[in-house]
Amino acid sequence: MRARRAEASSTLRHNPDFVDLSLRNARDSIPTMIESSRPRGLARNAANYGDRDFALYLRRSFAKSIGYSQAMLDRPVVGIVDTGSDYNNCHRTVPELIEAVKRGVLAAGGLPLAFPTVSLCEPSLFPTSMHYRNLAALDTEAMLTAQPMDAAVLVGGCDKTVPAQLMAAASADIPCVQLVTGPMLATSFQGERLSACTDCRRYWAQYRAGRVSRERINQIEGRLATTAGTCGVMGTASTMACVTEALGMMPPGTASIPAVHADRLRAAEAAGALAMQLIAAPIRPSEIITEHSVENALRVLLALGGSTNALIHLTAIAGRRGIRIGLARLNDLSDSTPVLVDLKPTGEGYMEDFHAAGGMPALLWELRDLLHHDARDVTWATVGERLVQPDFVDRRYIRARAEPVSPVGGLVALFGSLAPRGAILKRSAATAGLFETEARAVVFDGLEDLAARIDDPALDVTERDVLVLKNAGPLTPAGMPEAGYLPIPAKLARAGVKDMIRISDCRMSGTAFGTIVLHVAPEAAAGGPLALIETGDRIRLSVADRRIDLLVAEDELARRRSRWRPPAQPARGWDRIVAEQVLQADEGCDLAVLRGG
Ligand code: FES
Repeated sequence: MRARRAEASSTLRHNPDFVDLSLRNARDSIPTMIESSRPRGLARNAANYGDRDFALYLRRSFAKSIGYSQAMLDRPVVGIVDTGSDYNNCHRTVPELIEAVKRGVLAAGGLPLAFPTVSLCEPSLFPTSMHYRNLAALDTEAMLTAQPMDAAVLVGGCDKTVPAQLMAAASADIPCVQLVTGPMLATSFQGERLSACTDCRRYWAQYRAGRVSRERINQIEGRLATTAGTCGVMGTASTMACVTEALGMMPPGTASIPAVHADRLRAAEAAGALAMQLIAAPIRPSEIITEHSVENALRVLLALGGSTNALIHLTAIAGRRGIRIGLARLNDLSDSTPVLVDLKPTGEGYMEDFHAAGGMPALLWELRDLLHHDARDVTWATVGERLVQPDFVDRRYIRARAEPVSPVGGLVALFGSLAPRGAILKRSAATAGLFETEARAVVFDGLEDLAARIDDPALDVTERDVLVLKNAGPLTPAGMPEAGYLPIPAKLARAGVKDMIRISDCRMSGTAFGTIVLHVAPEAAAGGPLALIETGDRIRLSVADRRIDLLVAEDELARRRSRWRPPAQPARGWDRIVAEQVLQADEGCDLAVLRGG
C-alpha cells in the first residue's frame, strides 16, 4: 500500500503538467480497489431494512432507473459535492467544474455521482454566511457518510463553503479532494484595476467621505465583479484556498488558478482522477490534517497576510481532528513568519497576479525552512517532496525572504482584561502608529445602535477615541457578522480620518483593512468583559505587549456585572441550535457537539 501511495504521489510532485500523469496513475490503481473484499461502490452503506441483501437489491433496482448500465453501477463511486446555486455568484462555474470532475472519474474507471449540499454565498445570506457555515458542514458530513461512495471531490469556493467542506471531510474521514472554483479576474476600468471586494470597500469609504459622487459609485458597482469566481483579492476565499493547499487537502498548484482559466477545468478533471487514486490507495483526511500540516497552514496564512476569518476556520477544521490551535502558539509562529505576499487588501496585486507570480509552490519554496517537511497531502507526497525551486517568481507579488512585505506575520493575538481568551489584530492591514494607544471608548450596544448613531453629527467622538461594538458575536442573532470594520463616523471621514482603533466580538471581511481588533472572547453575549464596557471607559492597546485591557476598577465592573442579563434564546430551529451549541472564536465557532476528540 505504501509503495502504491508513493507511486500516486509522483503524479503531481515536481510536475506542472499534473493532469495527464494523475489520469495515468489512476487507471493503474483500479485493480487494487476491485480486489478488495470490503463493500465498495454502491454496495457501501446499505440502508437499514434489517436485510442487507434486500437493501442492496432495492438500491440496485432504483439505481437502474437512472439509466446506467450494470457495468457502470459495478464501478467504484466518487461522490461530487455540488454547491452550485443560482444564489451563489462565486459558484457560477460549478456545473462545468462538475462535468470536468466527472470526466476525470470516468476516464479512470469510476462512476461519478454528484449531489447537492447547502451553498453559501457571502453577500446573499441573512444574517451572515457564518451563521450557516456549521449547517453546511453538518449537511456535507451527513451526506458524505450516509451515501454510498468510496471517495469524494468537494467543489466549493466562497468564504464559508470550503471551510464547511473541510470540516465535514475531517469528521467523515473518507478520502476527499478539495477543488475550488478559483478567483475572479480583475477588470481594467478608466486606468485602474478593480475587483471585489477591497475596491468595493475603498470606493464606499470615499463615497461616505463625500469624495466620490453617487453617479460614480453607481458606475463602479458594475465594474467590481465582472467574471465568475471568488473575490479577486487575498480575502477569505482566496486565503482559504491557499491554506487548504498548504494543509494538503488540495492538489498542489491549484489554489489560485483563475475561475475562468482553462487550467481550472483541467484541475477539476485531475481532481476526479485523483479521487480514483484515493480509492485504490486510501489517504484519509485524518492522515493529512495533523498538527504538523495545521502549523504549515498557519505559516502560510501568516505569510499571505491572509484573512482573519481563516484563523477561525482553520481552528474549526483542526478541532474536528482534536487538534487545538492555541493563540499563544499563533503569536510564536507570527513572530517568526514574514509576510511575503503583496496583494490587496494590504498591497496592490490581485489573485491572478499571485498565480502568475508562481502561486503556492513558489510561496512554499520561500517558506521551506519554516515548514514541517513530513506533512503529507492528498497525493501522499510530503511537503519535503513537493518543494521545488521555481524557475520564475514575480517578486512584485511574492517577495524573497530577504525583502519581505513585513518581517513578522500578518496576524497577532491579544490578551488582557478585555479579552481573557484572546482577540485578533491583523497588524499587516493596520496603522502601526496606533499600536500603542490608551484612549476613551465610544461604545455601540449592537448593530442597530451602530447604524442609528455612527453618522449622527451629534455623536461625541474624535479620531483619538476607540470605537467599540458589542453583542455581535457568534452567540447573537447577528451571527458574528463582518461588521468589525466599523465605519469611520461620517463627520470624521469627511475631515480626512482614514483609520481608528475599532474593537468588537465579530469578524471583518478578509478584504478589509484598518486597526481592527476582532474575535474578542468571551463575547459580550456570553458575559465576557466586553459586555460591561461603557462609553467613557479607558482602553489600552499594546501590540508590543500583546495586550488589550479595559481600565476600569474591579468593584465598578462587579456592579455592572450584577446588572447584566444574558440575551433571550431564539425560540426554535437552527438559530436555537446555534445559540445552545456554538463555541467561541478561539475554538473556531464550531458547534460543541460536532468537535472531534
Ligand atoms: Fe464569494 Fe467573496 S463573495 S468569495
